[in-house]
Amino acid sequence: MTRCFAMCKPGVLNRRLVGQVITRLENKGLKLVGLKLMNISKELASKHYAEHQGKPFYDELVSYITSAPVVAMVWQMDNDDCVTLVRKVVGATKPSEAAPGTIRGDFCSHTSHNIIHASDSDASAEREINLFFKPEEIIDWKDEAECWF
Ligand code: PPS
Repeated sequence: MTRCFAMCKPGVLNRRLVGQVITRLENKGLKLVGLKLMNISKELASKHYAEHQGKPFYDELVSYITSAPVVAMVWQMDNDDCVTLVRKVVGATKPSEAAPGTIRGDFCSHTSHNIIHASDSDASAEREINLFFKPEEIIDWKDEAECWF
């Protein structure tokens, strides 16, 4: 079993796109086991984006992510592909390189206002899930439809 952290970034609520983002990940067969509407503090943002500190876009990234509520999610697969699958559905980081049919390819046009974040490795997923969710906030429900995925 593997998990991936994903987050609908500021603007997605204003644009009424949360349902469409979740639907695309569900359509792939991914299992939603954590979901939270929240505001991100500067402190949490700096922990989450610690690896990008010092990059030219860092201040803009933190300022954007703390500007409005986000939707934090934990997705799960019963194999080792969760991060890969989530990132396939999400698409390339730069909207200009994200393929049509992906979430970024269809819903965003500027990297600085990306619609969604997704963990880039199993190690990042574990770190980010622990930053945003307490263990009891993750619910690994019994999936009766598992055999179809
Ligand atoms: S990734 O997905 O981690 O491999 O992508 P990476 O290129 O390393 O980008 C890391 C995050 O920084 C955001 N980003 C930017 N924000 C503002 N301006 C510029 N120019 C810019 N370039 C990259 C990018 O969207 C990633 O954030 P998330 O939250 O994953 O979308």
